[in-house]
Amino acid sequence: MEYTDYVDLKYRPEKDDLICEFYVKPSKSIEEAAGAVASESSTGTWTEVKAPERVKKISAKVFSIKGNYIKIAYPLQLFEPSNVPQILSSVAGNVFGMKEIKALKLLDVSFPKKIVREFKGPLFGIPGVRKLLKVKERPLVGTIIKPKLGLTAREHAKRAYQAWIGGCDLVKDDENLTNQKFNQFKKRVVETLKLKEKAERETGERKAYLPNITAETEEMLRRARFVKENNGTYVMVDIITAGWSSLQTLREENESLSLVLHAHRAGYAALSRNPRHGISMLVIAKIARLIGLDQLHIGTIVGKMDTPKREVVAIDQEIEESIIVSDKAGHILEQKWFHIKPMFAVCSGGLHPGHVPYLIKRLGKNIVLQFGGGIHGHPLGTESGARAVRQAVNAALEGIPLEEAAKKQKELKLALERWKKIYY
Ligand code: 3PG
Ligand code: 3PG
Ligand code: MG
Repeated sequence: MEYTDYVDLKYRPEKDDLICEFYVKPSKSIEEAAGAVASESSTGTWTEVKAPERVKKISAKVFSIKGNYIKIAYPLQLFEPSNVPQILSSVAGNVFGMKEIKALKLLDVSFPKKIVREFKGPLFGIPGVRKLLKVKERPLVGTIIKPKLGLTAREHAKRAYQAWIGGCDLVKDDENLTNQKFNQFKKRVVETLKLKEKAERETGERKAYLPNITAETEEMLRRARFVKENNGTYVMVDIITAGWSSLQTLREENESLSLVLHAHRAGYAALSRNPRHGISMLVIAKIARLIGLDQLHIGTIVGKMDTPKREVVAIDQEIEESIIVSDKAGHILEQKWFHIKPMFAVCSGGLHPGHVPYLIKRLGKNIVLQFGGGIHGHPLGTESGARAVRQAVNAALEGIPLEEAAKKQKELKLALERWKKIYY
């Protein structure tokens, strides 16, 4: 089969087909480029090779070309059941480097029910996490201990305690803190969980600590078991750098551990930031949800990271990037998806209390709002920083402008003076 034999605009996808949407910038013609992508990601190669008729039947088919946007249908037989790396080696593998294309972005993947059924999805998801923390409706509030590296285990635990006392539900490690000499994993987990229990007794609220278990897979599992043995309820993992297969292993192990799995996406922008090349954040999010992470960083629209608006919120004039957040309030991770539970969307990166009303308005209440610098950088320190955030969340939920709420609440007042801007 030649590349253009993989284009069949009359083809109507079967219900079991997996559908991919790509943006393609062709080197020559769009048909040639689209066919090359379908060929290389399924049964073909650069030159014709004799093959039985049945091979033709399971080839991928380009069934839609609109400008630079194409859709490809992949028959179910091409995929090994519940093997995420294999699915990605097909639809998001060699294709990115082919000469027939100048640029290629995988914008969205629609998984057929038969593939979705092979995965367990989140063990807790939004309902399970809410039940665990006994927080019915409001967004969860969390912090990342800062400075991100360099504190000892004891200093880390103390800062966590102040954040919990001030009102944080969650305290997490930063993405690059794991088991360094100055702050060893086991010591940190033991000390921080001890102070978590103290904070729970003193506030009457449920709290959680999210230690970063990211490491080689077997070591990651040992760290997760250690957290469980010490009565931890959560772990966090850097999903892109750890890799999909390790997450599948962790999710399997989690059947017996029953820990909430928090996903940090450090490195995702290498895949998704270029609007014309790579893999969209939407695709990353769908795969993380299928595998079974309970909560995932999705960006903040307004924070320190450049999360392109087209990726988080809207539609860019040129590139119709697939979106995680619709124009209505809410986010895609909470949409119904067969048996797969909804995931908490985590907003983190450069946030301060002034961002809270905007984020709740855009993303709804099923979000985790996380503040590193925006809590520990408060003029009166961590505890007051956490108070200011809770005050902002309460005001936003009651529809009270933050300027108004700050008149009676000193912590919020100082935070707003420090970071100035309020987003509605
Ligand atoms: C960080 O580690 O600073 C942030 O989590 C980055 O933010 P994002 O992954 O939510 O965009
Ligand atoms: C994270 O890992 O989510 C962050 O480090 C966020 O930190 P920041 O609020 O200081 O940007
Ligand atoms: Mg970080």
